[in-house]
Amino acid sequence: MTQATASTTTATSLDGGRSTESVRAARERSAVLERQIAVDPSRFRVLTGERPTGALHLGHLIATLDNRVRLQALGVEIFLVVADYQVITDRDVAGDLPAVVREVLLDYLAAGIDPEVTTIFTHSAVPALNQLLLPFLSLVTVAELERNPTVKAETAAAERRGRTGMSGLMFTYPVHQAADILFCQANLVPVGQDQLPHLEITRTVARRFNNRYAAGRPYFPEPDALVVPTPTILGNDGAKMSKSAGNALEIRAGEDETVAFVKRAKTDSERHITYEPDRRPEIANLLTIGAHFVGTTPEALAESVGAAGAGRLKRVVTEALVEGLRPLRARRAEAAAQGPEYLRAILARGNARADEIATCTLDDVRDLMRMTY
Ligand code: TRP
Repeated sequence: MTQATASTTTATSLDGGRSTESVRAARERSAVLERQIAVDPSRFRVLTGERPTGALHLGHLIATLDNRVRLQALGVEIFLVVADYQVITDRDVAGDLPAVVREVLLDYLAAGIDPEVTTIFTHSAVPALNQLLLPFLSLVTVAELERNPTVKAETAAAERRGRTGMSGLMFTYPVHQAADILFCQANLVPVGQDQLPHLEITRTVARRFNNRYAAGRPYFPEPDALVVPTPTILGNDGAKMSKSAGNALEIRAGEDETVAFVKRAKTDSERHITYEPDRRPEIANLLTIGAHFVGTTPEALAESVGAAGAGRLKRVVTEALVEGLRPLRARRAEAAAQGPEYLRAILARGNARADEIATCTLDDVRDLMRMTY
């Protein structure tokens, strides 16, 4: 199985992870992993996280946060990186990082991440993690990095923004992500299918390190992608929800904003509600959001609204969202009320734990590389 995965995912680095063949293989592998998680969650350690560039929104909640909370509830150990060094991959100024990190932390807590069991840390507080970047960079070629679809996409995006250059940090960030994942020996990374190639670089780094320096007794696991369905959530202008587009419903939004978000959401002129993401993206988006919070499928929700039309759909989605976000708002308010020290302590604890693990890993790595003098 591992063998098969290795060869099929190799193909993803060439086609951006979009070939149906490799995506199907990764999905099948993920179904196997889900069954193993259900049987013995202690076999798995997840690493995931995000760049702290702003408060998190409904798109994050539906596509990733709720899945993390699900894995946490199943008993899987989770490490969450607040990837502050990734913020400066594509900007000259990091912005008000302390404020943004605070909001992201509150969003995690609001979503139900339990800091007693999940380790939350920032790149910048874990020097040994960052030092792993050096040996790891020696294990990949420039050509391999150039082929990485996300690096390619970022280059194109930077050019569209009128910048011709791409920073060296952006160019090497898939390798930095390998350090994020491997420092804690994570063996499971939840990803949307478009991110499969990222993990491929991590797997390559792990494999090459093992071959070169730990022959016979593999040191790093080759982590698996846990492909999770990540529906693209649209903002109320019909474009993909994103902080920068200004069309997002933030997790921290109040009830009025939530109601207004649905009210402003686009619909179409067909009365009968059906779930057809390609033909009716706005209706499909409302159905996806509503179904997520009601705990049903978009198809079933469409069926139940049917001839009652978009007005009824909006009422159903508004209620589902308002009710669904209520406990999040309560948890967020509770955490915020405990003051900045509370959040600082959570991060300090997570950073200390990550630092301890990263230091052990770096010591091992230096031993294996015969750099301990
Ligand atoms: N690049 C991810 C994002 O912006 C964040 C991230 C950093 C990450 N390191 C990672 C995700 C390692 C998964 C694994 O959302």
